[in-house]
Amino acid sequence: MIKLDLSHVIEKIDFTAYQEKVNAINQMIDERTGPGSDFLGWTTWPNDYDKEEVAQIKRDASYVRQNFEVLVVCGIGGSYLGARSAIDALRGLYSSAKPEIIYLGQTFSSTYIHQVLTYLTTKKFAINVISKSGTTTETSVAFRLVKELLEQKVGKNEARKAIFATTDKARGALKTLADKEGYQTYVLPDNIGGRYSVITAVGLFPIACAGFDIDELLLGAKDAAQDFSNPNLKSNVAYQYAVTRDYLYHHHYQVEMFVLYEPQYTQIGEWCKQLFGESEGKEGKGLLPDSATFSTDLHSLGQFIQEGTHLLFETVIHVDSSTYEVKVSHDEDNLDGLNYLEGKTLTFINDKAFEGTVAAHEQEGKVPNIIINLPKIDSYNIGYMFFFFMKTCAMSAYLLDINPFNQPGVEIYKRNMFHLLGKKGY
Ligand code: PA5
Repeated sequence: MIKLDLSHVIEKIDFTAYQEKVNAINQMIDERTGPGSDFLGWTTWPNDYDKEEVAQIKRDASYVRQNFEVLVVCGIGGSYLGARSAIDALRGLYSSAKPEIIYLGQTFSSTYIHQVLTYLTTKKFAINVISKSGTTTETSVAFRLVKELLEQKVGKNEARKAIFATTDKARGALKTLADKEGYQTYVLPDNIGGRYSVITAVGLFPIACAGFDIDELLLGAKDAAQDFSNPNLKSNVAYQYAVTRDYLYHHHYQVEMFVLYEPQYTQIGEWCKQLFGESEGKEGKGLLPDSATFSTDLHSLGQFIQEGTHLLFETVIHVDSSTYEVKVSHDEDNLDGLNYLEGKTLTFINDKAFEGTVAAHEQEGKVPNIIINLPKIDSYNIGYMFFFFMKTCAMSAYLLDINPFNQPGVEIYKRNMFHLLGKKGY
């Protein structure tokens, strides 16, 4: 499903030198004996997920689709980026499909929250609040406000039927609130962390509400779990990618730039940044993940990539086909000089931009390019891709001797903020 093209990496990487280490780490992942192994539940989730819960999610999603104009997804980080990246990629931007999906709970911006709440005053909306801890301040504050609006609009009883909570099965403020109010709840399992949770209810409920086939998504993840189970570097492209990243990191590259060629895939770059950044950036180690949407960003970052400080490599996520096709039309006067493109599809032109850019960056800029080819974007391939990146990420972090599943550094800003806000105990 995924073809990894390493022919533009410039450096020659000896996979055999890595094989033994990769085998040992793979065994550690399978047997759940490494650091953070309590959070490896996602590796077997595509096979052992709760079938009854998924059936419930599909019933509830169909209810939301029939009864609401908007679904508000209220969450941050791993509790929203996966769903957003999948929905944007599958739906496209500016889609008129219903229900509209709106994101909240990922910012303290009063302007943003005010604008969303104002927009919702005239809409029939449901809410999916997502938080594993149930105490994330951005999400809790926004949820309090949007719940208040919903209760004012439709009353507490109707609001209850329009609120769906995804959280820990037993602990946390959101679980307590959901139980007290009688909201439908879905579980984010104990052994799966936020940024590895897109294939659980965290991603599945919003994606199903947006009208996409979550059975297919889970099937894609399941096939990927199978395809990447054998650590042999001759065939395992997730591990080939992990080793390539590791090699480049140890050969003076400090930044990995994820590159996508469609605006609707921009959030996939955001999801990758969180997955790799939060998993690997510890103990003074790790590649800095960055992302760009080309050709747009070739007109902003392109100059730096081509000729600036030599610190980055690119990972291009290339999709072989587009959802819609547009052709360049004929113009009698040809004053814009574009008739040489007449009849050509924009996908063809975009692909030539991609090929020209890879050549320019690799050959003249000496910027290594890893190319990840996906045949197309649909639910199946999205599920496959999510699992591919998660498996790569676990292997990459372990190659650096890093626990991929904790995020101790994130707590420090929270502690300072709580102190400044006067929260008890800080
Ligand atoms: O990957 C992670 O663990 C984080 O990004 C969390 O998902 C994020 O901080 C949100 O946490 P929570 O789901 O507890 O609200």
